[in-house]
Amino acid sequence: MKIAVLPGDGIGTEIVAEAVKVLKALDLKFELETAPVGGAAYEAAGHPLPDSTLKLAREADAILFGAVGDWKYDKLDRPLRPEQAILGLRKALGLFANFRPAICYEQLTHASSLKPELVAGLDILIIRELTGDIYFGQPRGRRVATDGHFPGAEEAFDTMRYSRPEIERIARVAFEAARKRGKKVTSVDKANVLETFQLWKDVVTEVHKDYQDVQLDHMYVDNAAMQLVKAPKAFDVIVTGNMFGDILSDEASMLTGSIGMLPSASLNDKKQGLYEPSHGSAPDIAGKGVANPLATILSAAMMLRFSLGQAEAADRIEAAVKQVLALGLRTPDIYSEGTTRVGTVQMGDAVVNALR
Ligand code: NAD
Ligand code: IPM
Ligand code: MN
Repeated sequence: MKIAVLPGDGIGTEIVAEAVKVLKALDLKFELETAPVGGAAYEAAGHPLPDSTLKLAREADAILFGAVGDWKYDKLDRPLRPEQAILGLRKALGLFANFRPAICYEQLTHASSLKPELVAGLDILIIRELTGDIYFGQPRGRRVATDGHFPGAEEAFDTMRYSRPEIERIARVAFEAARKRGKKVTSVDKANVLETFQLWKDVVTEVHKDYQDVQLDHMYVDNAAMQLVKAPKAFDVIVTGNMFGDILSDEASMLTGSIGMLPSASLNDKKQGLYEPSHGSAPDIAGKGVANPLATILSAAMMLRFSLGQAEAADRIEAAVKQVLALGLRTPDIYSEGTTRVGTVQMGDAVVNALR
């Protein structure tokens, strides 16, 4: 089993080191190969996703990714910005299905910014389409406006688009996933305003005919954002487009206590996968040794389960995380009174100890 390890920037290197430590503590044979990505790769090789890194990613059985980005690169031409590395990997490997499970662990019920009774026992799954939508739609760019409110003014434009097969395949992923859990899918759209999302809604409704054992609801994205904080446990599987999924998953992360708890898996049709925390490189806390590594460690568990056929090892990691939380160990983002504040490395060490 070959795992490409791409730590990236900011806290990316700190949290991936802990996940690697946890993987190494399992009695499994992995080949781990590390390569630069994002700003780190731009510094080393002049490009955020060098050919050698992409090649490694393509050849690996799975990819463990940290995070990319730093404010200091925001002035670079877009193709050279760190974020292009993760977007480029998703596109190049066809990783269209992004799983972001928002699970509130019993011990973290009080870490959420919501009332404990709203999040206790929460277990929802956001399935975000990851290779389409306004993120990748062409044309895009800047120009001088020839119409609109201010003809002659500088303007910028992006294109929101989805094709029928793109919607069909992500809908199938969502219905299949729902079948294995609460048997309910909420498709989140903006069909009341956007043509792209009218097609989305129509296609999801058609695909649903093959999954009559699963309940399907449709919800507008603004309402979904509200319902997520009003009654999050009413959801089971949420399926939505790339941009809405980006926003709603960050929102959902706070239901679990912290964005530092939200793992993710991005899969293609060959079940090859990239595994990364849902959060970014957190430049505000990078280098301080306080980042929560659990989202990355839990992403490694998803990697074992989905791409490496090691469900038992995945279970062990998840059990170890729960055990560490039960011991009261908390990085600052999930700290509450009466618990013990620890740093990134101590948290990783504690998970390793719990495994043993
Ligand atoms: P962010 O997710 O990096 O951080 C948002 C907030 O959450 C910050 O206050 C941060 O300290 C906190 N946070 C994030 N992860 C944490 C963790 N593990 N433990 C404790 N606290 C944590 O989002 P941002 O600040 O908007 O973006 C920073 C950079 O990251 C940008 O360059 C952005 O483009 C990039 N980014 C990359 C990815 C990715 O690589 N997939 C994802 C999101 C953002
Ligand atoms: C994420 C991030 C990325 C996204 C950025 C860094 C391109 O926010 O993985 O959620 O918007 O998809
Ligand atoms: Mn995001």
